[in-house]
Amino acid sequence: MYKIIQKERLHQIIYSMWIEAPQVAQSVQPGQFIILMIQEKGERIPLTVADFDRERGLIRIVFQVVGKTTDELSTLEEGDKLFSFIGPLGKKTEIEDYGTVVTVGGGTGIACIHPITRALKEAGNKVISIIGARSKDLIIMEEELKKASSRLIVTTDDGSYGRKGFVTQVLKELLDQDKSIKKVWTIGPAIMMKVTCETTRPYPVETIVSLNSIMVDGTGMCGSCRVTIGKESKFVCTDGPEFDGQLVDWEEFMNRLTRYKLQEKRSWEIYQEHTHLCTCGRRTN
Ligand SMILES: Cc1cc2nc3c(=O)[nH]c(=O)nc-3n(C[C@H](O)[C@H](O)[C@H](O)COP(=O)(O)OP(=O)(O)OC[C@H]3O[C@@H](n4cnc5c(N)ncnc54)[C@H](O)[C@@H]3O)c2cc1C
Ligand code: FES
Repeated sequence: MYKIIQKERLHQIIYSMWIEAPQVAQSVQPGQFIILMIQEKGERIPLTVADFDRERGLIRIVFQVVGKTTDELSTLEEGDKLFSFIGPLGKKTEIEDYGTVVTVGGGTGIACIHPITRALKEAGNKVISIIGARSKDLIIMEEELKKASSRLIVTTDDGSYGRKGFVTQVLKELLDQDKSIKKVWTIGPAIMMKVTCETTRPYPVETIVSLNSIMVDGTGMCGSCRVTIGKESKFVCTDGPEFDGQLVDWEEFMNRLTRYKLQEKRSWEIYQEHTHLCTCGRRTN
């Protein structure tokens, strides 16, 4: 069983948890993810590894409450145990000394870009990080990202903190000013990754995205996470999650993300009917 060692609420609907999972912590690399189950009959949900501590055998996950399982996960407390925690899954990020690189994180993608940013800096790169959210309260892990990168730029859509505007506006300015930028990584909502790729397309920089397609088994057997990359079918769980963003069929990817909307809505309704929301924010039976 996988014990929750530390829990922190980073925002009203964003939580960080350190989970005891020594085998995963032993071999995990930046860019990889895990699939967890809260209980035996629960749903399997994939989450990116936001940090790890090999010595203490711990894995950090950061998740946003978007539906039934993430809501249920948010109600667990320190000391509670998860039924399963499988990983590390997916391919690791290709970390090399490229020179100057940019990492871009949006929403919970800020947490996912963190270990990649740190590893790129440790490999000798000058890493400029841009993190963005709708407003100040949604900017998470700022201190960690500051430490992990050579330079950090924060943006908010409403201007309540950092630069006003989107991460892509800052990225375009950087690409115009600094011709030594070799590569860009971007993780966040699908639309943000798509627009980042449109921004970098006129420049000679490779753009890597981490796709969050709907997964079931996470081992390349079910086909749920299929995406089209440069006319070839790929499975995000085994061939990814990172791909060359310029080759992604974004329309198909975004359509497939919404294919279970009705079932997700129904599952949420049934869950709410059978649970009670306490004034402390915790849902109980
Ligand atoms: C490789 C990978 C890494 C991810 N990393 C993170 C992370 O670090 N933090 C985070 O907050 N979220 C992450 N996600 C998304 C996360 O898995 C979903 O938010 C979660 O599964 C939603 O479950 P739910 O029951 O709460 O919501 P639901 O109501 O079931 O779904 C809400 C939305 O979440 C997505 N989703 C639902 N089920 C799955 C599934 N089995 N696999 C993937 N997406 C699904 C769909 O877009 C859906 O519309 C990642 C997804 C993938 C594929
Ligand atoms: S999740 Fe089943 S093939 Fe990728």
